[in-house]
Amino acid sequence: MKLKEAFQKLSSLNLQLADIRLLLEHRYRINLNDCFIDSEIEISDQDFQKVYNLLKDDYPVYYLIGFLDILNIRVFLNETVLIPEIETEEFIYDYIFKNCDLNNKDVLDLCTGSGFISLALKKHYPSANIIASDISNDALATAKKSAEYNQLNIDFRHSDFFDEIHEKFDFIISNPPYIPDNSPYLKAKYSPSLALFAGEDGLDAYRKIFPSIDRYLKSNGVACFELESPNADKIYKLFITFNQNYEIRIVNDMNDRPRFLVAHKIINRQE
Ligand SMILES: C[S@@+](CC[C@H](N)C(=O)[O-])C[C@H]1O[C@@H](n2cnc3c(N)ncnc32)[C@H](O)[C@@H]1O
Repeated sequence: MKLKEAFQKLSSLNLQLADIRLLLEHRYRINLNDCFIDSEIEISDQDFQKVYNLLKDDYPVYYLIGFLDILNIRVFLNETVLIPEIETEEFIYDYIFKNCDLNNKDVLDLCTGSGFISLALKKHYPSANIIASDISNDALATAKKSAEYNQLNIDFRHSDFFDEIHEKFDFIISNPPYIPDNSPYLKAKYSPSLALFAGEDGLDAYRKIFPSIDRYLKSNGVACFELESPNADKIYKLFITFNQNYEIRIVNDMNDRPRFLVAHKIINRQE
């Protein structure tokens, strides 16, 4: 198949030009900067048809590309991890980087998945001590590959929520599964359900995490949780049920939807 035909077919799937470029570059070693689309370059029909059918079936283009360059790091991606969301990137860049100094701090990234949050934090705060945990060994293997590639030293740990975590932290961040079980989630078909779904109302992970937060947070520590905006009120109430002495703010995303709960521990009752 000629490159031009392949390009037209990919464009018809409403892919972004930047994503088509990346796909052609990393799957077929074709650099669009070095050639014209109507050049005589050929692409293997068989492989392209496979790629096209997958994309038509909502297979995420970044699983085919295999990585995403974001916040100065390369995050490797496959079906064992979710693709980092723009809201998470925005929160890290616009909220954490601007408001928190995590250098020399003990940090926990609970439910790390691709490792995106830990990798971005370690890159920005080289002297932070970061533990990144997940229950999925496959996700951890993918995250470790990214850490090695980016030469970032992160302590990855296999753990069912806090089960294998024994340290205390200045900063805990978590983007846990939060989609209600029956919610029609567009990209769920090829993404790990373990990373998405959290019970009938989507709150099961928070129910497991929130009762332990105070025990794992040092005095003056901060805990941040990504959340699904329709559940923001419920998650706020759930948090204060288990953790009373906290200053809490809900941070909105660029579309002004509540997407993050940030809780600052103001009194330490345990140390
Ligand atoms: C929303 S994804 C993480 C996304 C990633 N932190 C990011 O921001 O791109 C949720 C992660 O929670 C993990 N997870 C699900 N149940 C868990 C449990 N019981 N203990 C620890 N991790 C769990 C999943 O394997 C998945 O990697």
